[in-house]
Amino acid sequence: MNQINKISVEPDSSLEWVEVCPASEINVEDVRRFDYGSSTFAIYRTEDGYHASDGWCTHENAHLADGLVLDDVIECPLHNGRFHIPTGKALNPPVCINLKTYPVRVDNGILKLGLSQHRS
Ligand code: FES
Repeated sequence: MNQINKISVEPDSSLEWVEVCPASEINVEDVRRFDYGSSTFAIYRTEDGYHASDGWCTHENAHLADGLVLDDVIECPLHNGRFHIPTGKALNPPVCINLKTYPVRVDNGILKLGLSQHRS
């Protein structure tokens, strides 16, 4: 099923804010997949709030939304590589390439993902 997401663009901002879901749908220490256009993301909620990163592990072909959130760390489901969720930093082998992270915010209870309007 195709889903249409509302987008808002603020003046003087290079970001478009894409609606992901009601913020309350993601529990603490949860991760979910979010597909938008040809891109896929992993959206997290940790004790300190919401975060977003690229969805695919930088090691091989595994989606991090199938992984396990442990405090502020995501563990990949395929080879147990770990990344620091807020920064995307690769923490242990076999992952050695950091994840790209993205800004998120909550507007009126809706979780939004900030994407560059000029991304490739
Ligand atoms: Fe993620 Fe190998 S695919 S650690």
